[in-house]
Amino acid sequence: MNYHRFDCIIVGAGGAGMMAALESSRKVGTAVVSKLYPTRSHTGAAQGGIAAALSNLEDDSWENHAYDTIKGGDYLVDQTAAEILCKEAVDCIYELEHMGLPFDRTADGRISQRRFGGHTKPNPIYDPSATPGTDAAKPRIPVMRACHAADRTGHMILQTLYQQCIKQGVTFFDEFHMLDLIMVDGECRGIVAIEIATGQLHTFHAKSVLLATGGFGRMFKTSSNAYALTGDGPAIAYRHGLPLEDMEFYQFHPTGIYRLGILLSEACRGDGGVMFNGKGERFMDVYAPNLKDLASRDVCSRSIEQELRAGRGVNGKDYVYLDIRAETINKYKTSPTGSDVDSHWVEKRLPDIIDFARTYLGVDPIKEPMPIQPTAHYAMGGVPTDVHGRVLRDTSGEVVPGLYAAGESACVSVHGANRLGTNSLVDLIVFGRRSGKDMARYALDREFQPFPANPEAPTRMAIDSLLSRPRTEPWVKLRDEMQKTMMDDCGVYRTEERLTRARDTIAGLQVRYKNLGLQDKGTVFNTNLLEVLELGCLLDLSEATVASALARKESRGAHSREDFPNRDDTQFFGHSFATKHGDGQPTVTYKNVDVITLEKDGKTTTKYPLEIRKY
Ligand code: FUM
Repeated sequence: MNYHRFDCIIVGAGGAGMMAALESSRKVGTAVVSKLYPTRSHTGAAQGGIAAALSNLEDDSWENHAYDTIKGGDYLVDQTAAEILCKEAVDCIYELEHMGLPFDRTADGRISQRRFGGHTKPNPIYDPSATPGTDAAKPRIPVMRACHAADRTGHMILQTLYQQCIKQGVTFFDEFHMLDLIMVDGECRGIVAIEIATGQLHTFHAKSVLLATGGFGRMFKTSSNAYALTGDGPAIAYRHGLPLEDMEFYQFHPTGIYRLGILLSEACRGDGGVMFNGKGERFMDVYAPNLKDLASRDVCSRSIEQELRAGRGVNGKDYVYLDIRAETINKYKTSPTGSDVDSHWVEKRLPDIIDFARTYLGVDPIKEPMPIQPTAHYAMGGVPTDVHGRVLRDTSGEVVPGLYAAGESACVSVHGANRLGTNSLVDLIVFGRRSGKDMARYALDREFQPFPANPEAPTRMAIDSLLSRPRTEPWVKLRDEMQKTMMDDCGVYRTEERLTRARDTIAGLQVRYKNLGLQDKGTVFNTNLLEVLELGCLLDLSEATVASALARKESRGAHSREDFPNRDDTQFFGHSFATKHGDGQPTVTYKNVDVITLEKDGKTTTKYPLEIRKY
């Protein structure tokens, strides 16, 4: 058996995993196990920026950032965690800068910042009695808070962190795919992984394990997520009886390339781009009169869907336009400074976007608008954790010793029901760093615990059984049915009827999945085997998503129930925890939202009062 022993094992080499590895490896032996070569991790696909209230271009504060994050999440945000995110964001940006991250600069050499949806500051000329539609009638106005490296910010973060990890001597097991957690008496003692090149199983004995495996957007037919985004960490935790939190909140990014789903960054709108329907109308005027195209993502995606349903797609089709031409930005006075821009400025700010549109759409965005539609982008839910990355066993807040999660695979509840753009990269860095610190602290306090005999045996049996079964229907048939079901019945808009149909379809696919046999029976680079294992993860996560969506009979953030169109703070002001007990559907229970209270004049008030969310 291939046995390895490290104080800390980090599963996943994206932003959260590598930030944690950098932190823990300063004190204890650390290895990163990743199914991808590290610089291919999906953090590299994040485009427009990373949020931090640096005040480099205009006055801002971490308090503004926290207010926006809590409102953006439709108040289902744990407020202490959100304050930590927004305060520590600032220091994290300077840490990345000192590591060598090539941020774009202002003319005087400071880190440049751009606008993103839902990121605001109070309007200094606000007058509640002003005529609606005028500048004075807007209570809050956009602020430049996203630090960026053109539209390749995630790519630069990934390269920078990988270089630092190599410099610091972190051990990497590249193209090793985690297949199981080793849990003994309710605590985590390591993982089982398959070496993709050889098909051999390896066990990793650890004092602490971090799940940083990223999101699971491949549940959906149209997604900005890479093929590798199959939620292996959350799915494996779920199979061990651990809960998944807030799974019903799945974000659709408004501006995916029509049909392909590839991301066209929100930075397009931050830098002045405007969306138009088939009649040439700037439809966000209607749905978000103050922030318009810079409203939160859930609002923009629903607005596009409304336009399409009303038959106002372009040429009668199911897409609208995103226009970043300089002449449009100038006409609508939407450039960040309000001054006119030219096409060189647009090309410099958004080089990858322009390249993607030319390559994948055959459209030159300098000269014509780009066809777009909402694309499945980001999981607000995942493995529940506290603010140190420690995994929660249940709604009581008890932690699972030795098990951590961070990044998109985790739910530390800073995004609530809807994440603001650029808050994902900062979540990776802030909570990756906190997790790494706590993992090292935990490892230093503790001896290695006994390792069970043959912990890989259940994994070996599952693989042998898959390889020995006769060939069956191809796995892609099941995947396509799952993705279509999740897109059609658990997408931007949901109803009891559609969700019930989704639940039954996914359950049927899970039965068919158990009988799947492979086309490729080999051991070397058996991608057929890996894809089938990944499909099993996606099916389990689809099950948890649909069950949580069925249970939440209200509309909040990205979860829009047409049969329950309003937010219901009386019954549903809580985080869902979906837990699997044997076969059958998971149970869904709720955990209180962490709300910060203030005492004044003998009265208790809340720091971030619940409001109707409007943009
Ligand atoms: O639109 C974007 O550039 C994506 C950023 C994000 O999801 O935070």
